[in-house]
Amino acid sequence: MRYLTAGESHGKYLTGIIEGFPAGVKISRDYIAAQLRRRRQAPGRSARQGRETDQFEIISGLSGEMTTGAPISLLISNTGRDLPPPSSLPRPGHADLPGMLKYGLLNATLIRERASARETAMRSALGSFALRLHELLGINVNSSIVSLGGMRGITAETAAAKLLDARRTGDTLGGVFELTVENLPAGLGGFGQWDRRLGSRLGAALMGINGVKGFEVGGGFSLASTSGLEASGSPELSGGLDGGMTNGRPLTLRCAVKPVPGLPGGVLATDLKTFRRKLSVSKTSDTTAVFSAAVVGEHMAALELAAALLEKFGGDSFSELEGRVYEWRKRTGKILARL
Ligand SMILES: Cc1cc2nc3c(=O)[nH]c(=O)nc-3n(C[C@H](O)[C@H](O)[C@H](O)COP(=O)(O)O)c2cc1C
Repeated sequence: MRYLTAGESHGKYLTGIIEGFPAGVKISRDYIAAQLRRRRQAPGRSARQGRETDQFEIISGLSGEMTTGAPISLLISNTGRDLPPPSSLPRPGHADLPGMLKYGLLNATLIRERASARETAMRSALGSFALRLHELLGINVNSSIVSLGGMRGITAETAAAKLLDARRTGDTLGGVFELTVENLPAGLGGFGQWDRRLGSRLGAALMGINGVKGFEVGGGFSLASTSGLEASGSPELSGGLDGGMTNGRPLTLRCAVKPVPGLPGGVLATDLKTFRRKLSVSKTSDTTAVFSAAVVGEHMAALELAAALLEKFGGDSFSELEGRVYEWRKRTGKILARL
């Protein structure tokens, strides 16, 4: 199974394709719309999101509400706003400067169009299919916010207050989100080559989310200061992965999201035409991306785990896959239950 997206922030559409997805997976338009809404309406987003409606069209791969095994392709409409004017002012903390250098362009707008996290809407749409596949196999993918701007123990109320405070002072916040995946069959991934290891694949998928700067599995960085005696008594610190494979325990992954670099009061930047310092102001920036990145994280992890499931069990149709997963769980479950 593989997937790809195309499209720009102010282009007519975002497009996406999943290939190798099994036939016979029942998924409704409402299910996909709900996943897009979760990403779009997550706390911390700007008023700009009110203008995005994420109207989408399924172009291929479904008959009614059932996948057919053919490549699935989708379109999501952008709101039709005009392309912003050319700008030679790269915004610090964004793809602007390295992108302009890479492509030899003096217009940062052309870099922003594709580097923008608007593209993650399509990843969420594609991820909906993977999430649905997991749901039908009894695999639960969930996310939660571990911290926001350094504050732990986040509730809806404390998050809202923290975000309001940041907005009032013209600031933005980073944070940490956690993903948990329960009921995954043991033995997904591999150790034969570095890129078969599930941790490296999930790391690539999650670090591929705009603004994600850190990734941990289980105990993660804290394991560096945990003794072997302590760690051996706490198998959950492995985060559900040993030797690059799922070990039958819940998977726990964490991602650190940097504070949104676009500040409403502006940040000083250097214009690449004049080499003068100017304020780069982001009026419509989100206050934090951590909540929406957590949703995208669920979708990206779901896509990678669906690919790993299909590699292990194959199956052109859902019933084929389901039968094999059932047999595998029965066989490995007997062993795991006795440990
Ligand atoms: C869903 C989502 C929404 C985002 N919204 C904004 C935004 O409004 N303004 C901004 O400056 N950065 C935003 N970001 C973060 C930038 O996309 C990110 O900082 C930028 O791509 C550079 O990050 P990188 O160094 O990790 O690639 C958002 C990220 C995500 C995942």
